Amino acid sequence: MTPKSKQRKPRASSARQPFEVFQQAISEHRFISEYSANVQRTTALFNEKRFTSKIAALKSFLTQNVVEHFHFEEESVFPQLQTEAQTAATRQVVAELLDEHKPLLAAARRLHRKLDQVSTGADAHAWTRLEQAIHKFLKTLQEHALKEDNIFLAEKYAHRSVPAAPPAVKPLDATVHLR
Ligand SMILES: [Fe+2]
Ligand SMILES: [Fe+2]
Repeated sequence: MTPKSKQRKPRASSARQPFEVFQQAISEHRFISEYSANVQRTTALFNEKRFTSKIAALKSFLTQNVVEHFHFEEESVFPQLQTEAQTAATRQVVAELLDEHKPLLAAARRLHRKLDQVSTGADAHAWTRLEQAIHKFLKTLQEHALKEDNIFLAEKYAHRSVPAAPPAVKPLDATVHLR
């Protein structure tokens, strides 16, 4: 259950179409959702055999898929949404999503620190508390990502549905000429 390093595309928002950044955010959410579902299904998250690798994987997830993902959204996705949004309601949702980042980032950093501390030795009680905190965090993170997906998908398809400009010269119908 090791978080894969996503090959992030260049972040220069001005050089990328809104459709592309929304698509990237949606695909990163898919990974967040899969990873979270795997962790949520695990009843004994820190079993004795593999707890070191699980701690490393969780720390990596928090860094890459929460801290860096949020940074990408704040730098590239949200500004695009604010610019492209057709309604005040959409802009309001974006502002709410941005507000949700603050407590989630603080929680991710807190969990990261706890994972460092607990790996140096802890009692059963501390493991249980940490496991509960991780489950709670992932549930909130998934709810946040779902809310984002709803708005990213709506914007993504809004952009895609814009009819392309007609070509200056009507292209030849290849099927006709092949007969
Ligand atoms: Fe977000
Ligand atoms: Fe997100």
